[in-house]
Amino acid sequence: MTNSNKSRFDYPLKVLVVEDNEVDKKVIESMLNDPTSSISYIKLTNTLNSALKILKESKFDAVVLDLNLPDSKGVGTLEKLNKRFPEIAIIVNTGAYEDELGLQTLTLGAQDFLVKGRYTSYVLNKVLHYCLERKRAEVELKRAYAQLKETQGQLVQAEKMKVVGGLASGIAHEVKNPLSTILYGVTYLIQQLKSPSRDVETVLTNIKEATNKANNIITGLLDFASLSKVDREKADLNHVIERALALASHLISKNKINVVKKYQTTLPKINIDVNRIEQVLINLILNSVYAMPKGGKIVLISKSEILNENMPEIPLEDRDKFEPGDEVAVISIEDSGCGLSQEVSKQLFDPFFTTRRAKGGTGLGLSVSKNIMAIHEGSISVKNKKTGGAIAKIILKI
Ligand SMILES: Nc1ncnc2c1ncn2[C@@H]1O[C@H](COP(=O)(O)OP(=O)(O)OP(=O)(O)O)[C@@H](O)[C@H]1O
Ligand SMILES: [Mg+2]
Repeated sequence: MTNSNKSRFDYPLKVLVVEDNEVDKKVIESMLNDPTSSISYIKLTNTLNSALKILKESKFDAVVLDLNLPDSKGVGTLEKLNKRFPEIAIIVNTGAYEDELGLQTLTLGAQDFLVKGRYTSYVLNKVLHYCLERKRAEVELKRAYAQLKETQGQLVQAEKMKVVGGLASGIAHEVKNPLSTILYGVTYLIQQLKSPSRDVETVLTNIKEATNKANNIITGLLDFASLSKVDREKADLNHVIERALALASHLISKNKINVVKKYQTTLPKINIDVNRIEQVLINLILNSVYAMPKGGKIVLISKSEILNENMPEIPLEDRDKFEPGDEVAVISIEDSGCGLSQEVSKQLFDPFFTTRRAKGGTGLGLSVSKNIMAIHEGSISVKNKKTGGAIAKIILKI
């Protein structure tokens, strides 16, 4: 049903009336078809389910909603509709003497409420316009806020990248080539010494270790600075875990670590940069290995799941990347190592934070991993387990 009046909005206004009482339906319809009304299109339906279907198929600006329908009663009707279509203005049409219920609906997402039999065509049309303006402002405000938050996050990241990136490109080229020459020369000399004296060998070995350490820092810096290039393909995460594990296998057996695998074999393939995600997994596995110098156990788990309403497994700072109902893959790496002190927990992801500086740690592993996960719109966390040791988790949308 349409009327030809031009609305003062710059597009035709569409209103869905959800009402099962035939008399009430007729009243609202005639009010919205009033020549003074600027509503351009009205549709009427009897049940919540049919309303949800109509809204899914075509865009409406507002819904005039009776709360007591054949398939849904009370404020639950409003909650269900608002949850599925948060951007539509809902005006609740309550029965007489239900003012209190009406007020309650305002706290549950309704833009306004009208009491049947107590409003005129003029009031209904005015309320509708007022609600539409307000809903539009609310939606725009929410969008602007989300954008602001995103920009703020990007700015912090950009600032960090500027510092580390500037450092990286400045020193990397100057230092990397001579370092390779030194490394190659020292390795060659150690091999060539037919009957090496203890001192010479110790000195040369020290030089070799120092060189390796410097080399690691620069490689890490370059990794950190060059994260803009990603090369995605559909991949089986279980294979990626296996590849990471194979690369760490020498250290795993040297440190007498027992690996337990609990893979979900039906894990769907995911669009990822395989090398980057492998890099994240290697770092997490190595962190676990280094946390267990006297041996221990690593449990690797892969599974898919649908996120529930509260998304308890997603760290707070990553919640805006996910929505309830999203299907995700969760990879966990549990260890029986030393776990994290409060101090370490706070700084884990800071570039250059390490407790293993003396043993060659650069402190870039987790910060690089966090960037890689951010590029994949995923999440990464490392926490203590209740039973001792740490658990690292990465979560990716499927
Ligand atoms: N599973 C874990 N158990 C205990 N501590 C951990 C674990 N994972 C990370 N850490 C702590 O977090 C710090 C930072 O980790 P990160 O991977 O960023 O750097 P790193 O391992 O020290 O050095 P790099 O990875 O650059 O060689 C580690 O030095 C360690 O103290
Ligand atoms: Mg590390």
